[in-house]
Amino acid sequence: MAKMEVKTSLLDNMIGVGDMVLLEPLNEETFINNLKNRFDHNEIYTYIGSVVISVNPYRSLPIYSPEKVEDYRNRNFYELSPHIFALSDEAYRSLRDQDKDQCILITGESGAGKTEASKLVMSYVAAVCGKGAEVNQVKEQLLQSNPVLEAFGNAKTVRNDNSSRFGKYMDIEFDFKGDPLGGVISNYLLEKSRVVKQPRGERNFHVFYQLLSGASEELLHKLKLERDFSRYNYLSLDSAKVNGVDDAANFRTVRNAMQIVGFMDHEAESVLEVVAAVLKLGNIEFKPESRVNGLDESKIKDKNELKEICELTGIDQSVLERAFSFRTVEAKQEKVSTTLNVAQAYYARDALAKNLYSRLFSWLVNRINESIKAQTKVRKKVMGVLDIYGFEIFEDNSFEQFIINYCNEKLQQIFIELTLKEEQEEYIREDIEWTHIDYFNNAIICDLIENNTNGILAMLDEECLRPGTVTDETFLEKLNQICATHQHFESRMSKCARFLNDTSLPHSCFRIQHYAGKVLYQVEGFVDKNNDLLYRDLSQAMWKAGHALIKSLFPEGNPAKINLKRPPTAGSQFKASVATLMKNLQTKNPNYIRCIKPNDKKAAHIFNESLVCHQIRYLGLLENVRVRRAGYAFRQAYEPCLERYKMLCKQTWPHWKGPARSGVEVLFNELEIPVEEYSFGRSKIFIRNPRTLFKLEDLRKQRLEDLATLIQKIYRGWKCRTHFLLMKKSQIVIAAWCRRYAQQKRYQQTKASALLIQSYIRGWKARKILRELKHQKRCKEAVTTIAAYWHGTQARRELKRLKEEARRKHAVAVIWAYWLGLKVRREYRKFFRANAGKKIYEFTLQRIVQKYFLEMKNKMPSLSPIDKNWPPRPYLFLDSTHKELKRIFHLWRCKKYRDQFTDQKKLIYEEKLEASELFKDKKALYPSSVGQPFQGAYLEINKNPKYKKLKDAIEEKIIIAEVVNKINRANGKSTSRIFLLTNNNLLLADQKSGQIKSEVPLVDVTKVSMSSQNDGFFAVHLKEGSEAASKGDFLFSSDHLIEMATKLYRTTLSQTKQKLNIEISDEFLVQFRQDKVCVKFIQGNQKNGSVPTCKRKNNRLLEVAVP
Ligand SMILES: Nc1ncnc2c1ncn2[C@@H]1O[C@H](COP(=O)(O)OP(=O)(O)OP(=O)(O)O)[C@@H](O)[C@H]1O
Ligand SMILES: [Mg+2]
Repeated sequence: MAKMEVKTSLLDNMIGVGDMVLLEPLNEETFINNLKNRFDHNEIYTYIGSVVISVNPYRSLPIYSPEKVEDYRNRNFYELSPHIFALSDEAYRSLRDQDKDQCILITGESGAGKTEASKLVMSYVAAVCGKGAEVNQVKEQLLQSNPVLEAFGNAKTVRNDNSSRFGKYMDIEFDFKGDPLGGVISNYLLEKSRVVKQPRGERNFHVFYQLLSGASEELLHKLKLERDFSRYNYLSLDSAKVNGVDDAANFRTVRNAMQIVGFMDHEAESVLEVVAAVLKLGNIEFKPESRVNGLDESKIKDKNELKEICELTGIDQSVLERAFSFRTVEAKQEKVSTTLNVAQAYYARDALAKNLYSRLFSWLVNRINESIKAQTKVRKKVMGVLDIYGFEIFEDNSFEQFIINYCNEKLQQIFIELTLKEEQEEYIREDIEWTHIDYFNNAIICDLIENNTNGILAMLDEECLRPGTVTDETFLEKLNQICATHQHFESRMSKCARFLNDTSLPHSCFRIQHYAGKVLYQVEGFVDKNNDLLYRDLSQAMWKAGHALIKSLFPEGNPAKINLKRPPTAGSQFKASVATLMKNLQTKNPNYIRCIKPNDKKAAHIFNESLVCHQIRYLGLLENVRVRRAGYAFRQAYEPCLERYKMLCKQTWPHWKGPARSGVEVLFNELEIPVEEYSFGRSKIFIRNPRTLFKLEDLRKQRLEDLATLIQKIYRGWKCRTHFLLMKKSQIVIAAWCRRYAQQKRYQQTKASALLIQSYIRGWKARKILRELKHQKRCKEAVTTIAAYWHGTQARRELKRLKEEARRKHAVAVIWAYWLGLKVRREYRKFFRANAGKKIYEFTLQRIVQKYFLEMKNKMPSLSPIDKNWPPRPYLFLDSTHKELKRIFHLWRCKKYRDQFTDQKKLIYEEKLEASELFKDKKALYPSSVGQPFQGAYLEINKNPKYKKLKDAIEEKIIIAEVVNKINRANGKSTSRIFLLTNNNLLLADQKSGQIKSEVPLVDVTKVSMSSQNDGFFAVHLKEGSEAASKGDFLFSSDHLIEMATKLYRTTLSQTKQKLNIEISDEFLVQFRQDKVCVKFIQGNQKNGSVPTCKRKNNRLLEVAVP
C-alpha cells in the first residue's frame, strides 16, 4: 500500500503545550507545570519558539534511534513533536541550503545534559550529512575527539558523574554540498584546581583513574606508577570508583579514540608520561628546616619520588629540587633569590601540577585540531556547537562562578540581540508592521563586569598588578568604591547606604544582580586565581626537561626569551577569549538548547520543582518566552494553516480552490476572529495571542469530533447496510437452499409413492392382461390344433388325389410318346438309311477338330525358342497335325526371335551358328566358347603407336588381330606372334616390333587341323608348292581357337568360294619343311597344371598333353 503523506503538526497530540510561547497564562507556575507534565509523559523536549528546552531524563529513552533520525530528516521544525533532532535538522538544512553559518548554543547547569545534547546534535548531523569513505573518516575523527577530551577534561562531581570541567566550542566545517570537511575546537577555562584538590565526594579528572585501572603492568612500570589509587595524594579516595563506570574499559576506548583521531603512538605515550608526572608530583612532600639566619626553609621529605619524576621527564633532579626550594625574582636587571617555606613549596608544587596539566590539556586540543582541521582551502560553511557551563549559583560562589556567569551574561546578550534581530527581520520579510518589543537588556550588567576602565575585571587586574600588599579585601574595597552606584552591584560596605543593613550580604562578599538572578560572590581567592602564578624557576626547570612535550609546554622558561612583563591574568585572558567567541557567534545563525536538570539525585522520574524553578529563573526562560511573544506569539505558513483549520469553514471545507492566503482570510473572517489578533504576512499568518490559536485549536478539535462523528455515522451506516445486505443475500441463499431441500424431499416421497402405486397398478394390469393373453393363447392353440388336424386331413386327401392324377398323367404321356415315336420311326425309316451315317460322322469330326483348336489356343507354351514344352496330343488321329503344329509354332517363334536382331547381331549369331555347325559335339573346347562373344580384333593395332608400321603396311580390313603362340617345330616350345587375318591374307608379325614375319594369301590355306579335346592347338596347312609353304605348316595355340577357326573358315569361303577343310582328330600330320611330323594329343596328367604342354618326342612325333 502506498504510504500516505500525513500532514502532522506540533499541535497534534500535545501533552501540555509543546511550545511555551503558546502557554496561557504565562507565569512561573504554569511554565513549571507544563514542563513537569511533559516530563512525566517522557516528553523531555519543549520549545520556546525555536529554542529547545531539554530536561535531563537520567535514563535512556528510545527517541534517538535511526528511525527517529529518519522521521525528523527534512521535516519542518514545527511539524513533529519537539525534539533536539528537529533543531539539528533545521540548523543543518539552513546551513546546507541557505548557506547560513550556524551555531548551536547549549547551556544549562552542571548535569543538565549539555554534553549529551552536543553529542546528539553531532551524531544527528553525522547521520544525515553526506556519505563516502573520506567523509566517514572525517565524521569518525570529529566524533572520536569527544572521548579523548572527556577523559582529560571531565570528572565526577557531586552534580554529574561525567561533568565537563572546561568550556568547549567546536566548529564543524562543511563543503558546499553539506559534507563535513573537518573542525576546530576551542576550550575555555579548564578547572585546573581539581588537579590538586577535589571537593568531598568528587574525583580528579577521569584520565588518572583510567590510566591506573586500564594500563598494562608493563605500561605502569614504564611510567613508574602503581595501580593502587591510594598511593597518590592527588587522587581523592572517597569516590575513586564510580558506579556504572568502567575506568579500565574507558581507558581502552580513549586509546582507541586517540588512534582514530590521529595521535602517533609516541605522542600518546608522551601524554601519559605527563599525566604520570602530574600524579607523582602530588606525592612530593616537604618538611620544615630551620636555617641559621632564622628563616624557615623547606626540604623534600623523600627524594625517591622526585628522582622518578626526573627520570620520567628528563629533568635534572638538582634543578627541580632547587626550584622547589627557592624563588628568584628578577626586576630591572636585579635577581633576588629567596627561600621558600613549606607552605610556599606546596604552593609551588601544586601550581606546577596545575599548570602542567592545564597546558597538556590545551596541547591536546591543539593536537586534535591539527588532525581534524579541514584539508582544503575552499570556502567552508560552519556549524558551531557550544557546550559551556550555564549560570552557576552556589552557596559559595568564587572567581570561577564569577567568570562563568559573566560568560552567560554575554551569551544572553547575543541571544537577545539575535532573537530580536531575527524577529525583526522576519517582520520585514513578511511585511508586518514592527511593534516595539519591551525586554530587559543585560548590556548594563556586561558593562559592570567587562568595562575596561571601571569594570570589575579591570579593577581586579589593576589590583593584581599594583605594587604593595594586595589582598582580596583591598580588591573588595576598591569595588565598593567604584561600583557603589551601579544598579546591579550590591555590597554591604559600599558607599551606597541601601545595603548597610542587609544581613544576607556578608562583609567579605559582593552581590551582582545578574539577568538571571542575584549571585553572591565570596571575594576570597579572587586575586590569587586571577594571578595564576607559576614561579619562574619552575617554568625554567620544565623548559630544561629532556621530555620534548613538557619542554614545549613551557616556552616562557626559555632564558633567551625572558619576559619580565607579567603574563596576562586569568580574568583578562578569559575576557579576551569570550570576546572572540562572541564575535564568532554573532556572525552565525544561533540555535539554542537550554538544558534543565530535574533533580539533584541523578535519578530518573524525579522532577524537583524548586530546583527547576531556580534553573528557569537563571536561564531566563520566562524572559525568553516574553521576548518571543512580544510581537506575535504564533506564526505559520498559509498552506499548513489552511490545511489545519479548513474544516472550520464551509467555504474552505473540504477543498479550497484559490490561493492559501485568501483561504485563510475567508476562514478567519468566517470565524470572526478580531482583526487586532492577527496579521497577514507575505507567506505566513501571524497570531498575536496564544488564546486565539487555542481557540482555533479548540474549534478544530470540536469540529474534528463532529467530523469524526459524521464519518463514524456514515461508516457505521455503511457498515450496517453492507452487513444487512450481506445478511439479506445470505438469507435468500439459505432460504432457497432450504426450500430446494424441502421440495426435493417432498418430490422424492411423492415419486416413491407414485412408483409404488404405479407398480401395484401395473402389476394388477399386467396380471389381468396375462390372464387374458393366456386365455387367448389357449384358445388360439386349440384352434390351431384343430385347424392343423383339419388341414392335415385335407392335405393328405389332396395329396392322395394329386398322386393319383400324376400317375395317370405320366402314363398318358408315356403312352403318347411311344405312340409318337412309333409314328415318326415309321415315317422316317426310308430316309435314314441313305445319308444319316455320313452326315453324323462329318458333323462329329468337325466338332472334335474345332474343340481341339480351341483347346490348343489356351494351352500354347511360351515364346522362348528354347522352351521344349508342348501340350499332349488329345486324339491319336491328330498325331501328325499335332507334330506339324509344334514345328510350325517353333519356326514361327524362332523367326519372331530373329526379327528382333540388328544386322551386326545377326552377323555375330551367324558366326556363332557357323561355329556351332563346325564344332558342336566335335571339339571339347567348343562349349566354353559359346558364352564368349567373338571380338576379332583383340589387339588394337590402331591405337598402339608401337604397331604403327604394321598398321601402315596393311591396307585391308583386319578381321582377326590376336597374339597367338607359335609352336616351334624343333622343340615344341612356343613364341608369341601377332596373328592377323584380313580379307585375303593371313599375316604373322613379331609381337615386340610389329614386323611382319610371314604373309600367306588365303587361297594358299588348304586345311586347319585340331584335336577333339579341350585345348587351343591348331595347325594351318598350306598348299603344297605355294610360296608360303616353303617353311612348312604353322602350329599355333590360342585361347580363341574356336573363333579364329570359324572366322578363317568364313573368310576363306567368302573370298575363294571354297569350303576350308577343318579336320578334327587327335592325331594329324603337319608338314615341317620336308618332314611330316605327327601331332598327337594325349590325356595329360593333372599334375602338370591346367595348361596343355607340348613336347617333341622324336623326329616324327610331337606330343601334346591335355589336362
Ligand atoms: N538526553 C539524555 N538522555 C539520557 N540521559 C541523559 C540525557 N542527557 C543527559 N543525560 C544523563 O545526564 C548525565 C549528565 O549529562 P551531561 O554530562 O551532558 O551534563 P552536562 O550538562 O554536560 O554537565 P556538566 O556541565 O557537568 O558537564 C549524563 O551522563 C547522562 O547520564
Ligand atoms: Mg558536560
